[in-house]
Amino acid sequence: MRTFIVVGHKAKTTPEFSLEDIPGTSGRIDILCRCTTAAFVLSHGIRKDVVILLVLCGGLVPKTICLKGSEIMYLNPDERTTAALLKKALELPATPEWSRSTPGIYVRNGGLNELLQQMREIRLLYLREDGTDIRRIDLGNISKEPVFLLGDHLGLISEEEELIKQIEHRVISVGPTSLHADHCIVLINNELDRFGREESA
Ligand SMILES: C[S@@+](CC[C@H](N)C(=O)[O-])C[C@H]1O[C@@H](n2cnc3c(N)ncnc32)[C@H](O)[C@@H]1O
Repeated sequence: MRTFIVVGHKAKTTPEFSLEDIPGTSGRIDILCRCTTAAFVLSHGIRKDVVILLVLCGGLVPKTICLKGSEIMYLNPDERTTAALLKKALELPATPEWSRSTPGIYVRNGGLNELLQQMREIRLLYLREDGTDIRRIDLGNISKEPVFLLGDHLGLISEEEELIKQIEHRVISVGPTSLHADHCIVLINNELDRFGREESA
C-alpha cells in the first residue's frame, strides 16, 4: 500500500463551491483533485494499492477526506468528477470518526495533527525540494507501506513542519526542480513501480 497525504491550506471544508469554477471558488480544491488523479488513475484502470488523504484547512475546523483505491468507484480522470465526489463528501455532517460518503471515500473532522498522531509508528517521507534525491535512497529500505506527505501551492507552513519534526521522518525530493504536487505523485508512483518491477525480475 502507498499512502499520499496532501495538505490544502485554503481548501474549503464545506460544499459551497462551484463545479463551474473550481479553482476560483473552492480554495484550490482543484489541486487536490489533480493529486487524486495522479495518485490513482492509470491508462486503463485505478491503482488499488493507493490511499490518498486530503487535508482541507480552509474552514473553522480542518477536515480530512480519505480515498481508497481498493474500494473507490465513480472516479474518472477529469477534475470535475473528482471535485463532485469531494463536494458530496463535504455534504456529510463530519465528526471525529470516519463517515463513508460514496464507495471508497470517507470524511472526518481533523487535520494533519490528528493524522500524524495516528501515524506515530511510521517513518514519514516528507516531499520537499531540498530533500535527499529519491534516486539516492535505497527503496528496498523504505517501508513496504510508505507514507508520503506533500504541500499544495503554498508548500508546508512552519507549524506543520514542527509537527513533522515530532515524528520519525525523512525529507526527500523527486528532483532538482520545484514541481506541482500532482506531478510529484506521478513521479513517486513511477519510481515505486520501477523498483517493484526490478525486484520481481
Ligand atoms: C508547488 S510545490 C510548493 C511550492 C513551493 N514550496 C513554494 O515555495 O511555494 C507543492 C509541493 O510539491 C512538493 N514538491 C515540489 N517539487 C518538489 C521536488 N522537486 N521534490 C520534492 N517535493 C517537491 C512539495 O511537497 C511541495 O510542498
